Amino acid sequence: MTRPAADEAILTISGLDSYYGELQVLRQADLSVARAQVVALFGPNGHGKSTLLKAISGINPPRKGSVRFDGVDITGLASDKLVEMGLAYIPEARNIFTEMTVLENLRLGAYNRRARPRVNDNLELVFSLFPRLDERKDQMAATLSGGESRMLAVGRGLMSDAKLLLIDEPSIGLSPLMKKTVFGAINRIKKTTDISIMVVEQEVDYALAVADRIFLLKKGEVVMERGAGEIDKSEIEKAYF
Ligand SMILES: Nc1ncnc2c1ncn2[C@@H]1O[C@H](COP(=O)(O)OP(=O)(O)O)[C@@H](O)[C@H]1O
Ligand SMILES: [Mg+2]
Repeated sequence: MTRPAADEAILTISGLDSYYGELQVLRQADLSVARAQVVALFGPNGHGKSTLLKAISGINPPRKGSVRFDGVDITGLASDKLVEMGLAYIPEARNIFTEMTVLENLRLGAYNRRARPRVNDNLELVFSLFPRLDERKDQMAATLSGGESRMLAVGRGLMSDAKLLLIDEPSIGLSPLMKKTVFGAINRIKKTTDISIMVVEQEVDYALAVADRIFLLKKGEVVMERGAGEIDKSEIEKAYF
């Protein structure tokens, strides 16, 4: 295996087609995430944003095209293998173990071989990003609020010693204050670590505040790509209608 050039993107998607049975959702999708940067993925409901994350993370592998992660072709690899390699997918649905404590949930996130020796460092990172989880570490996850469960899901991804977090709509259904907390944490991950992030988000304002680059997905196609300095918010919002 050749070592990736240091400046190679952490994630490069080329010509991705993805289907559910006969329904084609993604059409020749191209997109990349630079190392240690935050990419926001926008687009109307039902246009393939979650499908793209599922195609990358091995939940619903693409039918055509390729995905490169950290210099390696990972197209079609199983999700548990991808977690081992440092790719963490944080789905929209709350996927935490409600009958376990917050701390037990976090420790489970560190189950893979690479993450195990780094449990204590990563716990420290999670608790510094989300002091609320530290305060509640011995509580059952079932007792957490919606916003706290979302923090726990992101925390679990960090515990896997991820190089790249794929986060699906982290702020959906949360109060404005909680939305701010969640995006504040994403901003701190960006500022204080070399972890890369791709976040799907409906709340354009919150996401624009942290994104280095944005992509807009419409009918399964990437129809717009912009760097942080060249983003016109009204142009994005227009695409939603
Ligand atoms: N598990 C599934 N089986 C069949 N169709 C699906 C499934 N998940 C999503 N779809 C369809 O795929 C399209 C894209 O969905 P999705 O990627 O979830 O959109 P978004 O995340 O942008 O709202 C929609 O038409 C949706 O109905
Ligand atoms: Mg979705």
